[in-house]
Amino acid sequence: TLADTGGLVRDAVRAGGAVAAFNIITLEHAEAVVAGAEQAGAPVVLQLSENAVKFRGGRLLPIARAALACAEAASVPVALHLDHVKSPELLRQAADAGFGSVMYDAAHLPYAENLEATRSAADWAHAHGLWIEAELGEVGGKDGAAPLDPHAPGARTDPDEARRFVADSGVDALAVAIGSTHAMTTRTAAVDHALLDRLAKAVDVPLVLHGSSGLPDAELAAAVAGGIRKVNIGTALNVAMTEAIRSHLTPADPRPYLTAARTAMAATALAMITALG
Ligand code: G3H
Ligand code: ZN
Repeated sequence: TLADTGGLVRDAVRAGGAVAAFNIITLEHAEAVVAGAEQAGAPVVLQLSENAVKFRGGRLLPIARAALACAEAASVPVALHLDHVKSPELLRQAADAGFGSVMYDAAHLPYAENLEATRSAADWAHAHGLWIEAELGEVGGKDGAAPLDPHAPGARTDPDEARRFVADSGVDALAVAIGSTHAMTTRTAAVDHALLDRLAKAVDVPLVLHGSSGLPDAELAAAVAGGIRKVNIGTALNVAMTEAIRSHLTPADPRPYLTAARTAMAATALAMITALG
């Protein structure tokens, strides 16, 4: 059944847990994530990034409608989220395309410009009934940039700045930089738990973890115990898909290798959801 991200995150806050949010690129991703969530008996968020929309030739509706249909047919609550949006034009398509939430990403901008852009995105989102997440202190490895060395200190979210940013922008959730980085194909990153603890105390909205594919199960569980309430996962699905296709590639019919890819992604989704506890 179709759910909304805000409601699922509120449930996670009440339960002291986290909702898993998976980035989808193809219909097989969406089908697999829903299958994994159904096997886990857990709600899930299907999220589509601005980059994935670019891969779709800039057309949001075909993949959004497919994801919406997957959500409506699911036996568990499934929400639709537009992820890492930089384009105001794409943001403005979210509500009509069936999304209940967006992540507006101006984290690459200096503080004042990030705040200004995020505040106007939040005003627009709330006027259109959307839950909105934003980011402060950039999580690395976006847009094909190499993932940051997870063991280097890198960019981190400052707790005092985070408290002001949330109060002044009016966002519903905050993505924080605490040691993870996007697009890691190995699970060797670690969370800065002391910083997460300070952020959880400083900020009065739910915290979101990005680049979660690079964290081992124990780090994911510890991040949730430390106050993360939405966990974004993308690359782990793509690693599973690509490995399955490579080992099941057939001369013509795509169904055998896409079946293997979907099964592998569903298993990955189930495993990651289970790791969150
Ligand atoms: O917003 C998407 C996530 O941060 C995914 O990151 O592909 O490194 O798991 P990941
Ligand atoms: Zn992200």
